[in-house]
Order: sequence, then C-alpha cells, then structure tokens
Amino acid sequence: MVPAAGRGERLGPGAPKALRELGGVPILVHAVRVLARSRAVETVVVVAPKDGVAEVRALLADAIGERESAVLVVVPGGDTRQESVRAGLAALPPGVDVVLVHDAARPLVPVDVVDAVARAVADGAEAVVPAVPLADTVKQVTPAPTAGLPEPVVATPDRSTLRAVQTPQGFRRDVLDRVHAKAVQEGIDATDDAGLVERFGGRVVVVPGHEEAFKVTRPLDLVLAEAVLARRRSRVEY
Ligand code: CTP
Ligand code: MG
Repeated sequence: MVPAAGRGERLGPGAPKALRELGGVPILVHAVRVLARSRAVETVVVVAPKDGVAEVRALLADAIGERESAVLVVVPGGDTRQESVRAGLAALPPGVDVVLVHDAARPLVPVDVVDAVARAVADGAEAVVPAVPLADTVKQVTPAPTAGLPEPVVATPDRSTLRAVQTPQGFRRDVLDRVHAKAVQEGIDATDDAGLVERFGGRVVVVPGHEEAFKVTRPLDLVLAEAVLARRRSRVEY
C-alpha cells in the first residue's frame, strides 16, 4: 500500500507531493514502480489525494500499465496519514495476509529493502521496519515556547541504540487491521504504523534500511533525490 494523499506542505507551494516530478517522472510513479518490481508484491493499493483519484489512476495506468505484473487499485485518502492508511486497508483484497505500507514520499527505496521487509514478515515477524543508524548525535530537550529561543537539554540518548526508520514497513494484515481499529477507538492519531503496534503491545523488529530510502520532505530533499537518480542513470548507461 502506498499512502500518497498528503499535500506536501513542507515542500512548499505546488502540486501535491506525490505528483511532483523527479527526473521527469512523478514521485508516486517511482514509488509504485519499485513495489511492482518486487516479486513479493501482488497488489499495489495507492491512496491518492481525495480530489486526484481519477488523475492518479490514469497516470499509473499509463506509467506502469503492462510493464509490471502487480494489480493496481487506487482509492481516495483522508485528512491524516492514519486515515489514509485505513482507507488503503479497507481496499485490500481478501486473501492478502501481508501488507507493506510504503510512503509515496520515499521514491528511491531500493527493491532489495522491499524484499527484505517482506521476507522478515513471511519468516514470522508481525511488524517490521527498515531503519538506518543516525549520523547526528540526538539531544532530548524541553522545547522552547517560541521557536528560536535556547532550549535546555534533558538527555543525550546513546546514539548506538537509535535508528531512523523508513518505509516500506511490513505487517501481518490482521495485526495492522487490529491496531488501526484500536487507534480509532482510543482517539489516537499516529504517523508511524509500527508505533501503533508497539503502543498496543505488539512486537516490532528492525531490519537494515538504505540511505537512498530517505523521505522527500523539504526542498533540499528534492535536490538530493535528483542527484541520486542522476547517479543511478549514469551508472546504468555506463
Ligand atoms: N499521507 C497520506 N495522507 C495524508 C497525509 C500524508 O497519504 N493525509 C502520505 C503522504 O502522501 C506521504 C506519506 O504519507 O507519502 C508521508 O507523509 P509526509 O512525508 O508527511 O507527506 P505530506 O503529509 O504530504 O507532507 P507534509 O507533512 O509536509 O504536508
Ligand atoms: Mg505529513
């Protein structure tokens, strides 16, 4: 499943983030192509902006079409990421036991990461997240009431025990269904699906992610993504 219904406010004015282009191809198309290329993936459910379902359907039919074997379903998303994931879950065909949730905003994830996450779920984990070690030391602070003021440091967690998590995150379908239903009941709104599993007592494991699976969030991320794509293209053509 690919949540792609966000507006991309931190990217600045323009089209919804999933439809912004990278190397001349919409970000969403990159993300869907990677999933469709994984042999672990049979169906791709794309959760599109509410007013963009027809556009996304046409775009993907054109861009993916005959080239990939995975079945494609497009449904309208919600106002929060959690609502969008729920809409995607509701659209999953029966008989699907494993769900990968992959942000459209991570267009350059290598297919090996997709395969590794799917394999870890197939091997028995109920929730799997790909993650990478942190480059920066992290400080926990007491946030200042106004941005820009000095903030007191509370603690410095040991960096070797920290990981920055990416997507696709993989789940047993029944587990993901259950935690999303509980989140609604309890009025919880979370942007991290694995976090919901933890909160409700499930076990989450981390597998190695990849530096190219970074999320396109701010304008600088687009610059980096274009550079990664250019590097890949030059290597393939060489
Ligand atoms: N997402 C979604 N539905 C929402 C909000 C987010 O499907 N209501 C998706 C986004 O499309 C994205 C992923 O969740 O693929 C991760 O979210 P994020 O990077 O925060 O994207 P946006 O919410 O679009 O960006 P911003 O927060 O800057 O507006
Ligand atoms: Mg967001």
